[in-house]
Amino acid sequence: MPLDVYLETFGCQMNELDSELVSSQLRALGYRFTERIDDARVVLFNTCSVREHAEQKVWSRLGELAVRKVRQPELVVGVLGCMAEREGDGLMKRMPVVDILVGPAELDKLPALLDNAVRTRISLAIDAPAPPPPEVDSLPSFIKKSLVSAGQIALQGTSSRRSQTLAAAGDQLELLDLSRATSPDDHSGSAYVRITRGCNKFCTYCVVPFTRGAEIHRPPEHIVDECKRLADAGIIEVTLLGQTVNHYRFEHGAAVTVDGVTQPQKGRVYRTGEDFADAYAGERVTTFAGLLKRIHDEVPGIQRLRFVTSYPKSFGNDVLQVIRESPRICRYLHVPAQSGSDRMLKAMNRGYTVQEYLDFLARAREFLHQPEIGRPLTVAGDIIVGFPGETEEDHLATAELLRTARYKNCFIFKYSPRPGTTAYDKLADDVPEETKRRRNNELLKLQLEISTRVGEEFIGRTMQVFVQGVSKRDSKRRAAEAACGTGSPGVESWASRGVALSIEGRVAPSTPVSAAGVAELKTPSEDLPNEMGGLPTQLSGRTEGDLIVLFDAPAGRSPESLVGQIVPVWIESSKMLSLMGRLAISAGV
Ligand code: 5AD
Ligand code: SF4
Repeated sequence: MPLDVYLETFGCQMNELDSELVSSQLRALGYRFTERIDDARVVLFNTCSVREHAEQKVWSRLGELAVRKVRQPELVVGVLGCMAEREGDGLMKRMPVVDILVGPAELDKLPALLDNAVRTRISLAIDAPAPPPPEVDSLPSFIKKSLVSAGQIALQGTSSRRSQTLAAAGDQLELLDLSRATSPDDHSGSAYVRITRGCNKFCTYCVVPFTRGAEIHRPPEHIVDECKRLADAGIIEVTLLGQTVNHYRFEHGAAVTVDGVTQPQKGRVYRTGEDFADAYAGERVTTFAGLLKRIHDEVPGIQRLRFVTSYPKSFGNDVLQVIRESPRICRYLHVPAQSGSDRMLKAMNRGYTVQEYLDFLARAREFLHQPEIGRPLTVAGDIIVGFPGETEEDHLATAELLRTARYKNCFIFKYSPRPGTTAYDKLADDVPEETKRRRNNELLKLQLEISTRVGEEFIGRTMQVFVQGVSKRDSKRRAAEAACGTGSPGVESWASRGVALSIEGRVAPSTPVSAAGVAELKTPSEDLPNEMGGLPTQLSGRTEGDLIVLFDAPAGRSPESLVGQIVPVWIESSKMLSLMGRLAISAGV
C-alpha cells in the first residue's frame, strides 16, 4: 500500500523548488501525495527561518499534530528546511511529535530517513497501548516518550559534511536536482531552476548563510540540461534561483573548500561593478552572463528566462548586455536595497551605499529600459524597517529611496531578530513594535502609490502576457456559484472533469509558439464556457517584467484554452498592483 504524504511549504521560492524536488523523489519511490493533511500518514513541513513569524506558524502546526499523534501513533512527522537546521535536535526535544529533521543542505537524505521512520512508527503502532486521552501534557511520561521516535536527523551542523569539501557535498545534493522528473501534463508552464546554493554574504540580520551554508555553484552543463528537459516537458518560463544569483561563477575543474572559496582564486579580491564578471571570464570559467547566454541560445523553447535574487553589487555590464541582446530574457530585476540609509546599510553589512545602489539601478535602466520597443525594465525590491538603531531620519531616507527607485513592487518586512545572527548577538532590537508597524504601513502606502504610477506608464501599450489562470476574484466567484448551484452548467462539468482553472492553472504539454514569440491560440473548446452567471471570466497573467495583468476571456472563446499561453493584451488601466486590459488579437478567438 503506498503511503500518503502531505507536504506543506513555508517561505521562499527556494523552498518551493526544494519541495518540488523532494516530492518528485518520493513519488519515484512509490509514495503518494495528498492535499488533505487529515488523510496523510506522513506529514512534512518544509520550513523557513528568515523571520520569527514563519517559524511560529510551524510550531503551532506541530502542536496540532502532537494531539493527533496520540490517537494515531503511526503518523510520521518531518520538519525539513531552515528551521530544522537552525533548531537542531532541540526541536525534537521541544516537539517530540517530530520524527525526522532534515536541513536544506541534506535533503538528498530524506528518503532513507523517511523509510526508517516509517518502519519505526509502524512497529510502534503495532505495540501501542489503547489510544490515550488527547492532552499531550497530561500524558504519563512513558507514553510521551513513546511519541519520541528513533529521531531521524540529517543536518549540516551534525553531519560529516562539515569536514568534506563543498564540491563533494555539492555532488551529493546535486543528485537531488538532477533527479527532477517533470511530467508533461502536470505543471503550470513555469519552473524554478537552482543555479547556486547557499550564501556567503552574512548580512547581519540574516540566517540564510547559517541554514543553507556556503555558496556553491552548480555546473553549467547540469543547469542547461535541466532547462532542456523542462522545455521538452512543455515549460515555457524558467526562473533561475540563487540567494545572490548574479554571483554565479563556475570554475571548471576547481575544488571548492568549506569557506566557499574556489582554490585557484583563493585570496583574490573581487573587483566591484562593471568589470566584475569580464575580469574572470575565460575558457575555464562560466560567468553569470555566460550562463544566461548559454541557456537563452541553447534552449529556445524557454520563452521567458528570468532570475532572482540579484545582489546590487558586482552586477556586471556583461550581464546587462546579454539581457539586452536576448529577446527571451525577461527585463526584470529583483534587487533588494534593504534600506535607504547609509548608516543602516553599514550596520546590516550590505557592502554598498545608497548612491551605489541607485547608480546600479540607473545603469541597468540605461541598458534595459526600452518602453518604446515594448520592453521596459521593471524592478522589484525588499526593505527591512525597524532594524536596530533605525531613526525617523533613516526611515525618511528609505521613503526617499522608494521614490527614486520606482519599484514595480517592493516587499517590506519588519525587522525580526534571528538567534545566531550578528545583529541578534550585538545589537539591541530597540525600535518598538508599534514604530515598526507604523513605518511598515507608511512605506506600504507609499509603494502602492508608486506601483500604480509605474503601472500607468503601460496604459495604451500592448504587452505580452503569460496567462496563468482564472483571476483570484473569479476563482472565488466560481467557487461560490458552484456551491450554491447558480453557476452555468459548464462550471459543473469542469469541476467534474477536474479541469484546473485556478490561478495555478495547468498547461497543455507543448504550447505551439509562433516566430513572433506569441503562442498560436488553440482552437476554442466546445464545452468550456467563457462566462459565469452572464459575466465574462477574468483571466490573470504576467508580463515579462512580472506585472500582473487581468483581462476578460473574449466571447466565444474558452478561458481554459488561453491558460499557459503568451498572448498580447492591450492595457487600459492600472489599479493597485495590477494592470487591466483587453486581449489584443481577434484571429482564431
Ligand atoms: N528580519 C526581517 N526581514 C528579513 N529578511 C531577511 N532576514 C530578515 C530579518 N531577520 C528579508 C530581507 C530579504 C528577504 C528575503 O527577507 O529583506 O531580502
Ligand atoms: Fe541573507 Fe544577505 Fe545572503 Fe540575502 S545576501 S541571503 S539577505 S545574507
